[in-house]
Amino acid sequence: MLKQLKQYAVDHHIPIICDEGLLFLDVTIKKYQVKDVLEIGTAIGYSALAMASFGCKIDTFERNQKMIEQAKVHFNQYDERNQIQLIPYDALDYQGELRSYDMIFIDAAKAQYQNFFEKFVPYLKPNGIVVCDNLSFHHLKPEFVNRNTRQLIRKINAFKTFLQEHQDFKTVFYDQGDGMSISQRKSL
Ligand SMILES: C[S@@+](CC[C@H](N)C(=O)[O-])C[C@H]1O[C@@H](n2cnc3c(N)ncnc32)[C@H](O)[C@@H]1O
Repeated sequence: MLKQLKQYAVDHHIPIICDEGLLFLDVTIKKYQVKDVLEIGTAIGYSALAMASFGCKIDTFERNQKMIEQAKVHFNQYDERNQIQLIPYDALDYQGELRSYDMIFIDAAKAQYQNFFEKFVPYLKPNGIVVCDNLSFHHLKPEFVNRNTRQLIRKINAFKTFLQEHQDFKTVFYDQGDGMSISQRKSL
């Protein structure tokens, strides 16, 4: 099933987590005994269904109507144990209730990573972690890209500095997938 979804994403040019990134998530979920996940950025539901197959319960935000429709189809088809709840809203506009989570997985609009982090960290359980994907921005070099991409790279770098300097979280960056991080609350 995941193979099929991956092929669908490739065929339709939909960005999804790469194999190495998914393996990283799997290892991280096991290491930190993650049960409840909040995901920002569902797309067609590939990573959410993968995390469900690792045993997690997932609430996942998606704002793009086309993606929402696709994800619904895939969740209806494959989420047999109802482990996934799709929240069809822009994560930053959402005012509704949320549970508390062992892991927040940020994989959405790169310019907004800091806003996602700040908005959703209050929903993290005391020993919870925040995992971010795409921090290396496909290893692009600022001098070889257009102005918009350069701005995004700058934003991502500013976010990395924000994480590094955060007083309450210890962050480790990993050169796996498209650049991942794990941030964990420092113990008091
Ligand atoms: C890289 S894709 C997610 C891939 C997915 N996590 C996977 O690996 O299968 C990013 C998605 O985030 C969505 N997105 C971006 N900003 C968002 C926001 N503020 N709220 C909700 N969804 C957002 C985009 O519409 C896009 O579908």
